[in-house]
Amino acid sequence: MKLKSLLFSLVAASLVSGAAFAQAPIVIKFSHVVANDTPKGKAAERFKELAEKATKGRVKVELYPNSTLYKDKEELEALQLGAVQMLAPSLAKFGPLGVKEFEVFDLPYIFPSKDVLYAVTEGPIGKDLMKKLESKGITGLAFWDNGFKVMSSNKPMHLPADMKGQKLRIQSSKVLDAQMRALSANPQVLAFSEVYQALQTGVVDGTENPPSNLYTQKMHEVQKHVTVTNHGYLGYAVIVNKKFWDGLPADVRAQLDEAMKSSTKYANAIAQQENDNSLEAVKKSGKTTVYNLTDKEKAEWRKALLPVQKDMEGRIGKDLIANVNKEAVKLGFK
Ligand code: LMR
Repeated sequence: MKLKSLLFSLVAASLVSGAAFAQAPIVIKFSHVVANDTPKGKAAERFKELAEKATKGRVKVELYPNSTLYKDKEELEALQLGAVQMLAPSLAKFGPLGVKEFEVFDLPYIFPSKDVLYAVTEGPIGKDLMKKLESKGITGLAFWDNGFKVMSSNKPMHLPADMKGQKLRIQSSKVLDAQMRALSANPQVLAFSEVYQALQTGVVDGTENPPSNLYTQKMHEVQKHVTVTNHGYLGYAVIVNKKFWDGLPADVRAQLDEAMKSSTKYANAIAQQENDNSLEAVKKSGKTTVYNLTDKEKAEWRKALLPVQKDMEGRIGKDLIANVNKEAVKLGFK
């Protein structure tokens, strides 16, 4: 009788803990620094929706947009420590991690079209870059597009010489630093969350970003001029803490992989349109003028900034830059 009741309570206890286990979802904290209403914000929301559906609730994705949890530098540290599981930092932010090759994406005029970009991110170059993250305790899952950057400032900008002496906010990339110095400007690294205030208070004169970031952070309200330079690119790597990822049940990992594939397609499909809409909204706001360069002016910007590609060979790797340029040639450019 005693044995029977012991067995009974053991079975009951295991049922209770089994039920509790089945109910406790795996939580993915996904932190990022931009607004929800951006290509990255929307793709993160899509991932949450697909991941929770595919895993039938075994995984819960908690989104923390707009630097509500961490700023740029802190979020990378938090990922490595396991305080968050997923991020999508811009490719310009991997240098401080010691993976400077990612700064290839920051080189002025490196991508003559989005097709060349996709050939890089979806091909062997993208795979090799993601592999470099493994030794940092990070697994790279996907590249998400955003767009080409515009310049903003309180002064009109038609020619590279107009940037001379201006204090310009940049992301933490040595290539972006070199790019601004090539324009005889003074680059200042600031976290994304600090840009609006720095522009408003005059700590910096201007900055660069795709229109989607400019508009959703209301930077156009504190900048008198925007010039559509399209001089450089900004996109993302979606990354996870490697230990967390490797420790997931294999079926869950496969379902999340599928959800990530679909979200990536979505991110890349909406990016251009989102940026076009944002640029239109900036124009409509009437708060800032939007200037389109003439062909002659475009040529001047290229002349001023193209040498940065060569100057940065030592940092990024001559072969890597050459391989990216080869993708452009394969697609009929240059
Ligand atoms: C920036 O800091 O300007 C961007 O990287 C923000 C972002 O994540 O798009």
